[in-house]
Amino acid sequence: MSDGRRNRNSSFGTGLLCKIVPRHAERSEAKSKDFAAAPEDDSTGSLGSACNDGALNVGRFPELWFKLSTMRPTYLEDFYSFLRFPSVSTDDQFAEKLRECAQWLAQKLKSIGLEADIVATAGHPIVWARNKHRPERRTVLIYGHYDVQPPDPLELWDSPPFEPVLKDGYVFARGATDNKGQILSHILGIQETIEQNRELPVNLHLVIEGEEEIGSANLGSFLNENRDALRCDVAVVSDTGMIARGLPTLSYGLRGVTALEIKVTGPKMDLHSGIYGGAVANPITALAQLLAALHDHEGRVAIAGFYDRVKPLEDWEREAWRKLPFDGDKLVLKETGAPELFGETGYNSLERVWARPTAEINGIGGGYQGKGTKTVIASHAMAKLTFRLVPEQEADEILKLANTHLRKNLPKGVTLEITDGHSGPWYLTDPHSPIGEAAQRALREAFNAEVALIREGGSIPIVSEFRSILGVETLLMGLALPDCRAHSPNENFPLENLEGGIRLNKAILQELGH
Ligand code: BES
Ligand code: MN
Repeated sequence: MSDGRRNRNSSFGTGLLCKIVPRHAERSEAKSKDFAAAPEDDSTGSLGSACNDGALNVGRFPELWFKLSTMRPTYLEDFYSFLRFPSVSTDDQFAEKLRECAQWLAQKLKSIGLEADIVATAGHPIVWARNKHRPERRTVLIYGHYDVQPPDPLELWDSPPFEPVLKDGYVFARGATDNKGQILSHILGIQETIEQNRELPVNLHLVIEGEEEIGSANLGSFLNENRDALRCDVAVVSDTGMIARGLPTLSYGLRGVTALEIKVTGPKMDLHSGIYGGAVANPITALAQLLAALHDHEGRVAIAGFYDRVKPLEDWEREAWRKLPFDGDKLVLKETGAPELFGETGYNSLERVWARPTAEINGIGGGYQGKGTKTVIASHAMAKLTFRLVPEQEADEILKLANTHLRKNLPKGVTLEITDGHSGPWYLTDPHSPIGEAAQRALREAFNAEVALIREGGSIPIVSEFRSILGVETLLMGLALPDCRAHSPNENFPLENLEGGIRLNKAILQELGH
């Protein structure tokens, strides 16, 4: 993990030989040489001065961009400030950085005319902002998260993850898409609406948490404790995907997720494999056998009862998804670089990701991982697992079935310890409800194109609690492109979508204000 502090003093990227990419132009791969400082380019100043006095110390792109777009230079400055906080929620060493990030957000929200509080939780704080509410108006809750995934593996980044840089119109940094760029487009859309009309057309709650990437453990109690104060008519979230550049997307479903960790133990300490090898079970071999028993050869999950509650895909959905203006199978091959497609027979890639459940091994460890050979039988081996859940699967039941399956398939000679982790339910709503139609109108207006209706493979745990605790449906209007590399090295967000997101937020506020 990098030392986050060194980012605080960094300049804005390096010599950026940027150009504006024409809409729909093929996007070039990020190469490390593009981040190398160009000798003729003075890249030591701050963006603020660059934009105020026109000096090109952040490269040519911003000046050109801001001439052609309606976005102000200060927006990029806000974006960079937000991205510089290494707000990695999973690692306690960053707790202070999350607090600083929350403070920065609250300050920004106050500066645009909202009331903003920082609410302490058992974990990372929640930022809660409001305008002045008036009883006759609709109340909208906008939700997002300021925490980010760990940037590891660091060596695969072309530029440091918490030192944002701009290249060909894309800002590269951890959190650029998931979720800081999308949050900022909400904030700037609200800011412009207030500036233009002196106030918002709706009553607003803006809730930005710092624990989404670790399962939103404390947000449910925040909703419960503030249920009356948070009374609202609809939730709006931009933390999902946009199927392609310029193609507005309304997501009406999310997969759920549930996690567990397993530890297989053999001997009481690491052993000499010559002295004891062959006489006791090897925990790594046992773990490998156990994990192999999770799937059959066709990629179906082999846990008894796993599919019992799975709601089959509706015919209309299959048909609608097949008509979407892109080939999901090709997209998966291109974006993942996998040598071929693999998954449950009878489904294409979009169906597998959006509507079928999975069991995934996310991490595995044990034994000697250093240079050369070490003749050892490890005492332990461990693995981290998650299951993606679809309607009508239930996390508790799946965890129970998985526990039973793992215990039943445990090879001889070792013991097994299972720790259940966080869970978040799936979500499914009607994209054709009155608010769904309002969302579609706003998307059409902002992007001037027909709206794609999709489900998502990812999870946003709190969305089902907006329904169960606050009694509202959620509009998932995402801005993440398929190649945004969320959770991966070189995460990025196009300024085009920051700008489109601002238009979208202004449009949805007006639509919901009617
Ligand atoms: N923005 C994602 C969720 C997402 C990803 C929605 C892709 C649609 C498409 C969110 O920040 C996320 O990563 N969620 C986690 C939740 C988990 C840690 C409980 C996820 O899906 O893994
Ligand atoms: Mn995420």
